[in-house]
Amino acid sequence: MAHIQFHQVKKFYPNGFVAIDNLNLEIYDNEFLVLLGPSGCGKSTTLNMIAGLEDISEGTLSFNGQVINDVPPDKRDIAMVFQSYALYPHKTVYDNIAFGLKMRKFSDQEIKLLVMDAAKRLEITSLLERRPGQLSGGQRQRVALGRAMVRKPSAFLMDEPLSNLDASLRISMRAEIKQLHQNMKTTFIYVTHDQAEALTLADRIVVMKDGQILQIGTPDEIYEHPNNIFVASFLGVPQINLIEGKIHEENSQIIFQNSDFTIPLPDLHLKQFDSLSSPNVTLGIRAEDIIPVSSADHPHVLSCQIKSVLPIGSDQFLETQFQVNSPKSCFFRVGKEYRNTSEGSFHFQLNTNRLHVFDTQTSQSMR
Ligand SMILES: Nc1ncnc2c1ncn2[C@@H]1O[C@H](COP(=O)(O)OP(=O)(O)OP(=O)(O)O)[C@@H](O)[C@H]1O
Ligand SMILES: [Mg+2]
Repeated sequence: MAHIQFHQVKKFYPNGFVAIDNLNLEIYDNEFLVLLGPSGCGKSTTLNMIAGLEDISEGTLSFNGQVINDVPPDKRDIAMVFQSYALYPHKTVYDNIAFGLKMRKFSDQEIKLLVMDAAKRLEITSLLERRPGQLSGGQRQRVALGRAMVRKPSAFLMDEPLSNLDASLRISMRAEIKQLHQNMKTTFIYVTHDQAEALTLADRIVVMKDGQILQIGTPDEIYEHPNNIFVASFLGVPQINLIEGKIHEENSQIIFQNSDFTIPLPDLHLKQFDSLSSPNVTLGIRAEDIIPVSSADHPHVLSCQIKSVLPIGSDQFLETQFQVNSPKSCFFRVGKEYRNTSEGSFHFQLNTNRLHVFDTQTSQSMR
C-alpha cells in the first residue's frame, strides 16, 4: 500500500551535475510502474530517492500524502532489488534470503516456508547452501530477487533485476514477477532499459532521458502514440523507420515528399498542421504498419528493393532499400509467404491510420 508522489524534485550531485531535473510523477497504489530509458538517464537515481538511499536536492517526495524527504530507508517499508545485487558475501543463499525475515523476528518455521517457496519459484533450490561468490551473475540476481520477494513491503523497487539472465530465463522470470505483483497487491516500481520488458510488465511506463520524463502512459499509449521521435525509436524492434521530407496540402489531402518519392497520405489528420512553422517532417513507419500488395498497380503503392530477408520463425523482416538517396535500410514485417523473395521489388501500401508524423525541427509528434 503506497501512493508515491514526486513534486518538482531535483537531484544534483556535488560536482554540479543535474541527474534529475524537475521530476513530477504520481505512482498509484498497487500499480506496476516501469521507469524506462537509456543508460545514465536517471532511472536508478529516481529509484534510490524512493528508497531513501539518495538525498533529494529540491522538491518533495511523499508516501501516502506524507512528505518523507528526511525519513531514513529502514522506516520506509520498501523492499529493493539492486542493480548490483548487494548480497551478503559471507552468508549462504538461504541466509541471504532469510535475513530480512530474521530481523523482523519471524519464526524459523515461517522463514523456512517462505525461503523454500521463493527458491522454488526462482529455480535456485539446489543453490541454497552456496555463498554468493560461488554463483553466476544470473543466479545472484535471482537470490537478490528472492530476498525481496519473501517480504511484504508497501512498495517493491527493482533495478534491472533480470539484466543478467539468459533470454529464456528472463521470459519466465518476467511471468514470475507479474504473478508476484498480482499476488502481493502492492506498488511495484521497476527500472529497465529493455523496452520489451517494459511493454510486457507495466501498467504504466515512464520514458526518461537526460534526467527528464519524456512521456508517461500505458504500454499501448506509449507504443501507439509516442509523443516524440526519441520515444518512438526507443520502443519497438526493429526500430521504427524514420523518413525525412516535407509535407504540403493538395485538394485537402496531405502529401509527403522527399527526393526519393511522393506519398499521398489519405485520411491523415494532423492536429498541428496549420501552425506548423516549417513543413519539414519525419515520417515514422513501424515495421508492421504496411500492407504488402502483389503488384505496383494498386492505388498509392510504394515499391522498394529487398536487400535481405530475415526470418524470425513466426514471420519475417525484410530489409529494404526504400530511400534510394539514403544508405539507411528500412525494415518491414511480412508473413511467411514472402520467404523466398530475397531479390527484386517489394510493393506495399502504408497503413496511414497508424503512421507517425513528427515535426523534424522539434521532434514532437504532430498527430
Ligand atoms: N555520485 C555521482 N556524481 C555525479 N554524477 C553522478 C553520480 N552518480 C550518478 N551520477 C550521474 O547521474 C546520471 C544518472 O545516473 P543513474 O545511475 O540514475 O542512471 P541510470 O539511468 O540508472 O543508468 P544505467 O541504465 O546505466 O544504470 C548519470 O549520468 C550518472 O553519471
Ligand atoms: Mg541504473
